[in-house]
Amino acid sequence: MKHRTQPIKDSYNRRIDYLRVSITDKCNLKCVYCMPSKGLTYFKESEVLTDEEIVRFVRIAHTHGLRKVRITGGEPLVRKNIIQLVASLKEIGIRDLSLTTNGILLSTLAGDLKQAGLDRVNISLDTMDAKVYRKITKEGDIARVWESIREAERVNLTPVKINVVPIRGLNDGEISSFASLTFEKNYHIRFIEFMPANCNGIWAKDKCVSSAEIMQQISGLGNLERLTFKGRGPSRNFRFKGAAGVIGIISPLSDHFCGYCNRLRLTADGKIRPCLFSREEIDIKTPMREGVSDDAMEKLFFRAVKIKPQRHLLNEDPASGGHLKTMSKIGG
Ligand code: 5AD
Ligand code: SF4
Repeated sequence: MKHRTQPIKDSYNRRIDYLRVSITDKCNLKCVYCMPSKGLTYFKESEVLTDEEIVRFVRIAHTHGLRKVRITGGEPLVRKNIIQLVASLKEIGIRDLSLTTNGILLSTLAGDLKQAGLDRVNISLDTMDAKVYRKITKEGDIARVWESIREAERVNLTPVKINVVPIRGLNDGEISSFASLTFEKNYHIRFIEFMPANCNGIWAKDKCVSSAEIMQQISGLGNLERLTFKGRGPSRNFRFKGAAGVIGIISPLSDHFCGYCNRLRLTADGKIRPCLFSREEIDIKTPMREGVSDDAMEKLFFRAVKIKPQRHLLNEDPASGGHLKTMSKIGG
């Protein structure tokens, strides 16, 4: 297989160089916006891609210019042999290998993950109030998340990015406190608009705090400067004058960023999702288990890139996210 120097492009001339890999649909928390409180079924172990299968697919995508991989879940750190999997993915030559975690198990694994080649982490933390944290996550202990954040800093899984989903009536009063953390600490606080996903029926348009409102709330705290990073991505980034950290605003609803979307997703059960909101998925597990060649796998990858839709329609029609499986099955 020939190695391509430039990433592959999709039908809309977008370079596709980023893959989000969900490695498990299991989680040690049950966040209200992610895991349904009733009726959730998990994939059987045999349905989930093995380490070898994940590594094989990533290796093939890497020959076509894949540069960034993010490991997600569910909660990726509940998967067995996660350290070995990280090492195998890094060995392929992935330039930017990151992981999104709820931070419950990270403090004990951070050093080994770093050594295995993980570059950085995103930690989900929607509140600084232990009681609200319990309300959102059902069973989480917030002290462990802070320990993980400190440990991630210590072992240089940096910059530590903290994902915050503001939900009206739940944690929207904490937007300024989160933003203020960046004055002293080099955290990247990323505010993500609450997206409609089929979960507990808790999504409603008025629960979603728009990016404009977030900006308005934080603008009084200091002088916000717009940053332009080299990397493309959905986040608009800012820094308070003189502050150590960065504030990112991610607006899937109010300002869809599909025009420069560079990513595909691989679900834990082995399907490529060209877009978070895709109805169409491409099964790579069945062919792999039937023994297809790398060339045939490559064709499946090309097909996924080719059918990547131009954009999602969430902002015109939030109900168009209604068919989404729970986020924990897709990887956020
Ligand atoms: N809207 C926005 N973000 C979500 N996440 C999960 N569900 C949603 C949703 N409905 C994000 C969480 C977490 C990441 C894994 O996915 O904030 O950081
Ligand atoms: Fe688990 Fe993350 Fe979903 Fe919360 S958001 S239930 S931590 S996968």
